[in-house]
Amino acid sequence: MREKNIFICRECGYHSVRWLGKCPACGEWNSFRIEQETESRKEFIFEPPKKLSEIEKDEAEKRTPTGISEFDRVLGGGVVSGSVILLAGEPGIGKSTLVLLIAGKTVSPGKKVLYVSGEESLSQLKIRAARLKLNDTADIYFLSNSEIEVIKKVMDDFKPQMLVIDSIQLVHNSELDYSYGSSFQIRENTHFFIEWAKTNGIPVFLIGHITKEGTIAGPKTLEHLVDVVVYFEGEQTSNLRILRTIKNRFGPTDEIGVFTMQESGLCEVPEASRLFLSSRKENVPGSTIFPSQEGKRTILVEIQSLVSPGYFNIPRRTFTGLDYNKVNLILAIMEKKYKMNLSSYDVYFNVSGGLKVNEPGVDLAIAIASISSFKDVPAPADSVFIGELSLTGEIRPVPYVSARVKESARLGFKKAFLPKTSDNLLLFGIETFQAEYLQDIVKILFPAVLK
Ligand code: TYD
Ligand code: MG
Repeated sequence: MREKNIFICRECGYHSVRWLGKCPACGEWNSFRIEQETESRKEFIFEPPKKLSEIEKDEAEKRTPTGISEFDRVLGGGVVSGSVILLAGEPGIGKSTLVLLIAGKTVSPGKKVLYVSGEESLSQLKIRAARLKLNDTADIYFLSNSEIEVIKKVMDDFKPQMLVIDSIQLVHNSELDYSYGSSFQIRENTHFFIEWAKTNGIPVFLIGHITKEGTIAGPKTLEHLVDVVVYFEGEQTSNLRILRTIKNRFGPTDEIGVFTMQESGLCEVPEASRLFLSSRKENVPGSTIFPSQEGKRTILVEIQSLVSPGYFNIPRRTFTGLDYNKVNLILAIMEKKYKMNLSSYDVYFNVSGGLKVNEPGVDLAIAIASISSFKDVPAPADSVFIGELSLTGEIRPVPYVSARVKESARLGFKKAFLPKTSDNLLLFGIETFQAEYLQDIVKILFPAVLK
């Protein structure tokens, strides 16, 4: 064994061989302190490498559906045993409510759940559970504590079949000389829970608060440690909540789960399109419908545009739920092609219900909404618009055209404007207009524009 001096950042655990005034990793000042590093010689056991045929399929990769289908779909069919799921979101969005709902569905005789809260008292936890009408004799055990030594002891004694840590930022190991909530604390404690989950084959839910900057505190380091990262999102002003996977070692990352937060708990929304279209007013200029593909599911959303004369030198551009650069690019195409001189206009875009739409197929719906608002002529209310636009105004094909058209027909839409496709869409009982150029559609919907 030999010893040497090492300097470690108190904030993030960065190692340096000399003292530094400012940590190059986390930017903290005066955070280095000296420690003696002991390097002990570890004994390694020889382990032969294996051929694929010799590797047993991991028993642990068994999936258990929770019965909350909006959650199970996002995870790829359920919770994999021994997996660590990070549920991240802003304070107040409903993370604790969601995991409690999952706990309530998971618990059964012989299947205990341990719910550790570092931020709420037992009576606060009881109030939430009562709101959710959770059976109060079910085997869900609550612990209001943040010291990892205490939590470990309870885990060992209790042997739960599911563990919830609410939140990982508030778990504290007093043996580590790092401040509460520092990324070093969070990382070390996360490592402990991962180790425990893998050894015992038990799923662990870690709740993570997102800081103002949008990162899960303890930077992004947490995200690559865990198996699954799901974000729970929503606007303060709306009761809509969207569950989205950012990372999933065992499944897809393109599915979303839709919920509403009600007085008595979270409700699943299997018919999300109906919710997103519920407040739509028909025959209003600036509105188009886009069938957005979210994983295996098509969700219809309304793209709303408002193009109005501006009163300031710098025109306003506010695009909610859509990519800023994408919308600007489409506006540029429209300005050029249809002499929509937008330099003295304010332009607003919004996606109904607060959903974020990120796929290329939304271009045509954006273009038509903008010209419809600019010309003050409604786009047909019974139609949907699908297609990506090239800079020259060509309508490019997008994936899942059949699925989108089928779902639009099911929801009562009569016509779909699309790129040219070889898919047979006749069966769906909806009229299709397959166009090669944006021009072909504008000519029909806004004939006055081209005169
Ligand atoms: P909570 O799960 O505590 O959020 P987080 O853990 O993400 O901080 O719930 C947030 C809000 O939801 C809280 O302000 C109250 C509200 N709420 C309801 O509207 N209905 C309910 O049934 C529950 C339990 C909470
Ligand atoms: Mg909470």
